[in-house]
Amino acid sequence: MIESQQLLQPLNYIPADIYFAQDYELLAQGFIPAPSYSYIAGGSGRDQTLAANQAAFSKYPVVPRILRDLIQGNAQISLLGKNYSHPIFLAPVAYQKLAHPQGELDTTRAADATDTCMISSTLSSYSLEEIAKVGAADKWFQLYFQFSREATLDLLKRAESSGYKAIVVTIDTTIRSPSLGALRAQFQMPADCVAVNIQTYEQVTAKHIQHGQSRIFQGVMQEAPTWADLEWLLTQTKLPIFVKGVLHPEDAEKIKSMGCAGIIVSNHGGRSLDGAPASIDCLREIRTAVGNNYPVLFDSGIRSGLDIFKAIALGADAVLIGRLQVYALAVAGALGVAHMLKLLREELELTMAQAGCATIADIRKFNLRTA
Ligand SMILES: Cc1cc2nc3c(=O)[nH]c(=O)nc-3n(C[C@H](O)[C@H](O)[C@H](O)COP(=O)(O)O)c2cc1C
Repeated sequence: MIESQQLLQPLNYIPADIYFAQDYELLAQGFIPAPSYSYIAGGSGRDQTLAANQAAFSKYPVVPRILRDLIQGNAQISLLGKNYSHPIFLAPVAYQKLAHPQGELDTTRAADATDTCMISSTLSSYSLEEIAKVGAADKWFQLYFQFSREATLDLLKRAESSGYKAIVVTIDTTIRSPSLGALRAQFQMPADCVAVNIQTYEQVTAKHIQHGQSRIFQGVMQEAPTWADLEWLLTQTKLPIFVKGVLHPEDAEKIKSMGCAGIIVSNHGGRSLDGAPASIDCLREIRTAVGNNYPVLFDSGIRSGLDIFKAIALGADAVLIGRLQVYALAVAGALGVAHMLKLLREELELTMAQAGCATIADIRKFNLRTA
C-alpha cells in the first residue's frame, strides 16, 4: 500500500488506464490514506462474508445465446412509477469526505449526470440539505434509527422537506463486528469528517450499563430498533420506505406484508454479521418469497456489469453500488464516479447482448445456471 506522503491528488480528468469499472478499486489505493482505505475496503470480523460476496458470483455462469435481433435493446427500468435509463443506483455510503474533499456533493453531481438514483446516507459528511440542492435528479434518503424517536422523526421530516423521494431504512448494522483490517491499520475518523446530519442528536453510550449486565444486550442493543419501530415509522411518512439489509425470506415477506415499498437484499458489503451468506446467494429465495412484482433491490459484492446481470437474473429489479463509487470518487471526483457508472452500464449492456437479452425483463426470465 502507498504511504500517505506519496498520496496522489484527485484528478480532474479520467485516467487513461481504466478499462473496467473495477480498475478504480486498485487505482484508488494511491489516492486514499492507507488507514482510510482499510476502513472502506474492509468488512467485519475476519472478512469471511466480504470475501464470499464477490466469490459467489462465479457460481452462476452465463450461457451465451446467439443470433437474436437486439437492435431495440435497452437497460431501462421503471421503479416507483419513475423511469431510469439503467438499473444501477448509488448505495448509501457514509463519510465520503474520507475519499474526496467534495465527498457526497460530487457523487450526487455524478448521479445527476448519469440518470442514476443516489441514496444519501444518514452519516454523510455533507448535510442532507446541502446534498439535496445538488442537481435536479431524484434522490433517496437512507435513514438510521436514532437513539430517540424524536431524533428519528426529525431526520425523516428534514428528508421530506428537502425533497427526497423515498426512504431507505437500514436495519442490519445496529451492532457490527469490528473490522480487523481497520483496527490493524489503526484507522481513526479524521476530525474534518463528521456525520453532520446527526451531530446535535443524543448518541447511545455504554454509560447506561449496570454492573453485571451485558455490554451487548443491555448496552449496544438497548435502544436497537425492533419491528414495532418499523411499524411506527410507516405511520410517520407518506414517502415509500425500502428496508435495507434483508437476507431471510421470512423477513422479506413480513416487510412486504407491513406495507413497505420494497426491500434491499444486502449484507452491507460484508460489514455486518461476519459469517452471513453472500448476498447474491440469498436473492433467488427472497424473490420467490415476495413474488415477481414486489420491488427487490440488491447490493454487496458487485464489481462489474456481469455481476449486475447475474443479480437481475436472480431476481433484482435494480442494484446498488457501494465501494466502487468511493474508489472512483477518490481518483477523479464527480468525473470518476460518472465514468465508473458509464463503464458499469456498458459492461451490463455488453453482457445483455452476449446473452441475447434485449431488456431487463429478458434478464429476469434468463435461466441462470448454478455451476
Ligand atoms: C465505507 C462504507 C460506508 C458505508 N456506509 C453506509 C451507510 O451509511 N448506510 C448504509 O445503509 N450502508 C452503508 N454502507 C453499505 C453500502 O450501502 C452497501 O450496502 C455496500 O457497500 C455494498 O457492497 P459493495 O461495497 O461490495 O458494493 C457502507 C459501505 C461502505 C464500504
